Parts: sequence; C-alpha cells; structure tokens
Amino acid sequence: MSRSRVTESLAVKKPVRHDQQEKIAGLAVVVMAAGLGKRMCSKQAKVLHRVAGQELVLYSVRLGLRVAGDRVAVVVGHQADLVRQAIVRATSEKSGRSPVAVVEQREQLGTGHAVLQSRPVFAVGKRASPSRYLILNGDTPLLQEATVRELLRIHEVERATVTVLTAVLEDASGYGRVVRARSTEQRVSRIVEDRDANPEEQAIHEVNVGTYVVNGEFLFSALEKLDPSNAQGEFYLTEIVRLAEHSGQRVAAVVLDNANEGLGVNTRRQLAEAEQVVRQQIRNQWLDAGVTMIDPASTWIDATVTIGKDTVLYPNVTLEGTTVIGEDCVLRSSTRLTNCTVGNGVDMLDHCVCADSYIEDAARLGPFVHLRPGVVVRKKAKVGNFVEMKKTDLGEGSKANHLSYLGDTKIGKSVNIGAGTITCNYDGVRKYQTVIGDGVFLGSDTQLIAPVTVGAGAIIAAGTTVTEDVPADALVIGRVPQVNRAGWAARRRALQTDVNHETGQVKRTTKYIGGTKKQVAFLKSNQTKTQR
Ligand code: UD1
Ligand code: CA
Repeated sequence: MSRSRVTESLAVKKPVRHDQQEKIAGLAVVVMAAGLGKRMCSKQAKVLHRVAGQELVLYSVRLGLRVAGDRVAVVVGHQADLVRQAIVRATSEKSGRSPVAVVEQREQLGTGHAVLQSRPVFAVGKRASPSRYLILNGDTPLLQEATVRELLRIHEVERATVTVLTAVLEDASGYGRVVRARSTEQRVSRIVEDRDANPEEQAIHEVNVGTYVVNGEFLFSALEKLDPSNAQGEFYLTEIVRLAEHSGQRVAAVVLDNANEGLGVNTRRQLAEAEQVVRQQIRNQWLDAGVTMIDPASTWIDATVTIGKDTVLYPNVTLEGTTVIGEDCVLRSSTRLTNCTVGNGVDMLDHCVCADSYIEDAARLGPFVHLRPGVVVRKKAKVGNFVEMKKTDLGEGSKANHLSYLGDTKIGKSVNIGAGTITCNYDGVRKYQTVIGDGVFLGSDTQLIAPVTVGAGAIIAAGTTVTEDVPADALVIGRVPQVNRAGWAARRRALQTDVNHETGQVKRTTKYIGGTKKQVAFLKSNQTKTQR
C-alpha cells in the first residue's frame, strides 16, 4: 500500500500550538523517571501509566523539550527499556533520532541519586556545561510551561542557586513540606519529607512540587554530598536546599497560584484526578481553536490528537493516539478513531471504529463501520453499514455500502461493492491479495477467493464466487442453476396439514402426492427432532 501517496494527497493542516516556543540558552533539563511507583499497585512502572492517552513521563519530557530544546536527559530504571522505547517513539525526529538522552539508574536509591546519573550526559562534547538545570519529576502531568518559565525568571531575578516550586495544599500528606526561616524574609531553609517530618512539620501546608532550578556549578557537587540517613534510606534531591542554605547560597521559591498544577501522581486516584484535568484542558484547547463539541464532557480527545477548524464532534466521540482530523468534518456519536488521518469535509455517521487508517477528503462512512489497520478510503468514497475493512485501499468515489468484509484488497476508482461481498483472503495459513480494477461492478453476495484479480470495467453477477482472474469488461456469473418445481410448495403444505404436529402422527395417508411415504417419514423425523 502506498502510504506516501496517501499522505501527499491529504492536505490536513496541523494547527499551530500557541506555546511559547523560545528555548532558553544554557538550560538543561533532567526528568526523574526511574521509580516503580509502589503506591500505584501496578505491574507497570508508574511513568508508563497514561493520562489522556500519553505516558506520564512524556508530559515532563515534552515540557523539557519546549524550554531547553535538545538538552534533555531522562533518568530511567524500572522497566527501563519500555520507558526508553516510549520516549524514543514519541520524540524521534524525521531522521529517526530522538533529541532526548536516556540514562539508567540501576538501583533506585532516591531522587538525588537519580539526578546524579545524568551528569555524564552533559559532561561530554564540545558544548559548554549547562549554566542551570531544570529538574522535573516524571509524575507531574499538570505542570504548565508558563509556570516553569516563571520559575526560571525568578531564579534569575533573585540570583538564586536553587529555586523550588511550591504549592499550598489543604491536605499536604505524602508531599515534602517546605520549611521556611522564622525571619521576616521567610526564606526556604529546607524540605522535609512526609515520612521524616515531626508533627510540627507535618502541620505545614506548603509542599514541594518536585520542580527545581539549580545552578550548574552547584548541582553535582551538592549531589555528591548527600547521605541517606533518613526514614527511607535514600539520597534525597530535596537535601540540596539545605546544603545551599548552609553554604550561604540563595534559595528562592515560587508558590503556585493554582495548587492543582503541582499534583504528583503517586496513586490511581491521583492518576484519575490528573486525567480529568488534562482532558478538560484538551477540550478547551480545541474549542478555542474552532472545533464544535455538542457535549464536551463526553468527548474524549487524547493529548496527541489534532483537529481542524469547523469540525463538529457529537457526543461520545473518542479520538485516540496520533489521530489527525481535518477541517469541516462531522463525526456523529460513539465513533472511535485511533491513529487515523482524516481529511477535510469527511462525514462519519454513528458507531464507526477505525484504527491506523487514512480517510481522504469528502469520504462518507458509517453507521457501524470497522476499519482495521492499513485501510485507505480515498476521496469521496463511501463505506456503509456493517462493513469491515483491513489493509484495503478503496479507490476514489468507490462504494462499499452494506455488509461486507474487504481484507488485503486494492480497489480502483468508481467501483461498486455489492451488499454482502466477501474477500476470502485467508486459507487458514496465509493471507492473499484481491485486486479490483476501476469501474468494476460487484453484484450482491459476491465472494472473491484470493489471490484473484478482477479487470477494470468487469461485472460480477450477484451471488458469484470468483475463483479465477476476470478479464477487463467481462461479465462473470457463477451460480447453481435454478430449478423451478411447479406446485411443489402447495403440495408440501397440504401434506403438512395431514401430520399432527403435537404427536407426530399421520392423520391420513394420501395418494395424491408422489413419494408420499418417504416424505411423510421425512416430516415425521423432522417433527421428532424439533420436539427433542
Ligand atoms: C518527591 C519529593 C517530595 C515532593 C514530591 C512531589 C524527594 C525526596 N521527594 O516525593 O518532596 O513533595 O516528589 O510530587 O524528592 N525517582 C527516580 N529514582 C529514584 C526515586 C524516584 O527516578 O530512585 C523518580 C520517580 O520515578 C518519580 C520522581 O523521581 O518520577 C519522584 O519520585 P517519587 O517516589 O514519586 O517521590 P515522592 O515521594 O512523590
Ligand atoms: Ca511523586
């Protein structure tokens, strides 16, 4: 299937995101993503759990890329290979290369130890070492770019060595508490982890979000000084605050206006909370960009989806993965698209389930269409009720309007696929290709035993099983010859009235019908069968 041809012909404009695109010189980002996340009670590493269809870790990684360009390192550990794959898959450029450096923390000895593992990434090459590091937890998907930029700005303005992002929470349990000096300035003097906090510290409502800006010369020398004498026996990154303070360096803090932004996902409840917030942000983003949603609350759009202007989404539409939808489309209720590209002016009626497929401009689908991976529905083509397709290219203006299975098939332009057409593409071992030329007319209930080719302009009569290639412009008819037996049905009805249906007893033997005994026996045996 020629994918390139498809993508060329699809003029779907990807809307520009209105993020602040500017990269900050001298900045590097470290994302900590090595932990298992015990509190998730999961076999899967926490950072691989998804929010709005996107792995948790990618929220921090993408944020890092937006502010620091190509100087982003992610520290992985639990299920390192899977986390690495998720990052590479999501961030690879056209060259296939990802701008993100992934380093492994073999033993999860704490957040401070995690950041220390990233040192070699920034120590190699000709580039000057970063002047500042932005450090992000891998489990804070609600953090906004504007907030991070503000944190960086305050770090500069305050000429701080360490700047921490904090939030004031009603319920601060589980978080590190921010301990401030009792002086008038109330500078941050240290962060104490929940499990190490005394009752007085536990009563503090200001928490550490897990987002820090740290000066380059200070960071790694401080990390080397950490010791694990705490409740968890870990090297806490948060201890760098105390170290900075003790050596007379400036520690600054930014308190979040919206404390929700600091949500750290440690539990499934927090995951569900993050999901709700992110989904709403995504809806608002597309509403603002000119997409109509009849019922936003039931419209589910993944973080990685794009939608064109004046497209209308009816209730219960789900758009997943890398789906791209053009302008002026209408998606009626209960349709789910996963990794699909949809052109402009496409009409999809209710209940279509489509994955990894291309749908070109002005095509019309549904209701109840199932597109499995590898389908191309070309311009103005129509796919109707209860049609399943897989690895099939339906040519421009062609129609498959009712009750069909089309698999491994290349269909030309202006083809009519009759109701009930089936491509028999599988012999139990291998799959075979069907090719249908331009302008072919397939009558209803056609079966095509692949591999088979139907030449352009051919007509296949309804009910035909096509087993051999068909020349262009031929008529093919393959049916069991029809036999008409005059009066047979009436005679059978008469015979049936002679049988007592309750007992199976023949009330009267009749002479007026040929083969009476045999037929009576047949009717009786049938009777007993159904009574069983
Ligand atoms: C951390 C902070 C806490 C803060 C909270 C905010 C520390 C010691 N504590 O606590 O002050 O309030 O975040 O959400 O930093 N990780 C590693 N390697 C490790 C341990 C953790 O990479 O050895 C990663 C995790 O995958 C996670 C992040 O670091 O992405 C934070 O770890 P987590 O265990 O969630 O820390 P918290 O207890 O939430
Ligand atoms: Ca956490």
